[in-house]
Amino acid sequence: MPDSLSPPRVTASSLCAKKAHGQKIAALTAYDCPTARLLDRAGIDIALVGDSVGTNVLGYRSEQQVTVADILHHSAAVRRGVERAFVLADMPFLSYHSTEAALTNAGRLIQEGGADGVKLEGGTPVLPQTEAMARAGIPVMGHLGFTPQSHGRDLYAFSEKRGTVARVQGRSAAEARWLLEEARRLQEAGVFALVLEMVAEEAAQVVSQALEIPTIGIGSGRHCDGQVLIAHDLLGFSGVTLRLAKAYAHLGEQAAQALGAYRHDVEQGAFPTDENVFHMEPGELAQLRQHLGPKS
Ligand code: KIV
Repeated sequence: MPDSLSPPRVTASSLCAKKAHGQKIAALTAYDCPTARLLDRAGIDIALVGDSVGTNVLGYRSEQQVTVADILHHSAAVRRGVERAFVLADMPFLSYHSTEAALTNAGRLIQEGGADGVKLEGGTPVLPQTEAMARAGIPVMGHLGFTPQSHGRDLYAFSEKRGTVARVQGRSAAEARWLLEEARRLQEAGVFALVLEMVAEEAAQVVSQALEIPTIGIGSGRHCDGQVLIAHDLLGFSGVTLRLAKAYAHLGEQAAQALGAYRHDVEQGAFPTDENVFHMEPGELAQLRQHLGPKS
């Protein structure tokens, strides 16, 4: 429950105000309560409960396997860890195929999952759903460029490893113009912000300058109004190096070393030590021994 000492909560309008004041927005994925707490402590504006939870945490092959129940579960955990950041829940594949489905599922993500807003992928095909949700008072973020629900994120990891960036959007003038038109349509339909994923930097700059709402880039260069990363990439958990990301830590390697050291210590009898154990009262032990008899 926020009190007078709690930091002011990030809202859709405070995010838009950041753009108006030329301040950048920092967003990061979070799928659990401890990560959400860390993210909030770091002053990150948006905790995105992305459908990337499927491939990063749940062991799914693609984003298409993620369900509303998955996002609800993880969104509620993130909500419990956050006081300030805006909790943004991804609408998973097939949860917004119709306006009715979009309203029902977005409503659940807000009311049961504790999300402050929702994000959905696509342009023209999702305009009716976007309009309906915005009209119902649900803060909606758009997502253009590379859209993993239709492309499959594993494809671009695959091509990136081989040095090509086959999934970058907006490299030609025609594609950049189309992206700009789609972005304008989404703004008109009521989105309060827009993710641009894997868009050529120049095209992302044009879109960002043309829109009143903020753009949040991932692999879309330096001129977006904010950036978003997948926490597992930032923390070096995923073991995959993507050009669009930066590993600020290498926790995966550290974790692997820690697990190996633990196994070694257990096998060698070096863990637990006296520091890790709990003893009986000496008098109680003497009583027990007496009860058990001379062979104990
Ligand atoms: O699911 C996700 O993590 C996302 C981000 C990459 C923007 O949609």
